[in-house]
Amino acid sequence: MGTILILNGPNLGRLGSREPDVYGSGSLDDLRDHLTGIAPVGVDIDLRQTNDEAELISWLYEAVDGRIPVVLNPAAFTHYSYALRDAAALVTKAGLPLVEVHISNPHARESFRHTSVISAVATGVIAGLGFESYRLAVDHIARTSG
Ligand code: DQA
Repeated sequence: MGTILILNGPNLGRLGSREPDVYGSGSLDDLRDHLTGIAPVGVDIDLRQTNDEAELISWLYEAVDGRIPVVLNPAAFTHYSYALRDAAALVTKAGLPLVEVHISNPHARESFRHTSVISAVATGVIAGLGFESYRLAVDHIARTSG
């Protein structure tokens, strides 16, 4: 089916050393290796991370223009970035899947994490399952996207 963009927001480049009690001990490279290993034949995993909101938005434009399905962990942008939400809406309004994922379960954490401004424009949301959240999202897209 082609490429799936796996986009990660701020501070996720520190996975492995960042709050391992919350996010586990695996790094972003471990996540890339894991997803590449489980991706069905014909599915390419393009996993990226940025701390820059503008860059994340530009990657969503790339998804729209290239008609590429997206798995998005918006990290802290989840909770307040209307700019990212509007860009995510461009993806789903274009008829492309965008699955919002979280490693932790934001609803079981501080109250500011209970709101996602992204979820209403996402195709679906998977949270709280560690790296498994991404695996399930990739699996869903691989099975449902032409
Ligand atoms: C996160 C949850 C967010 O609240 C947090 O800001 C993150 C990671 C997660 O994957 O659990 O950076 O998106």
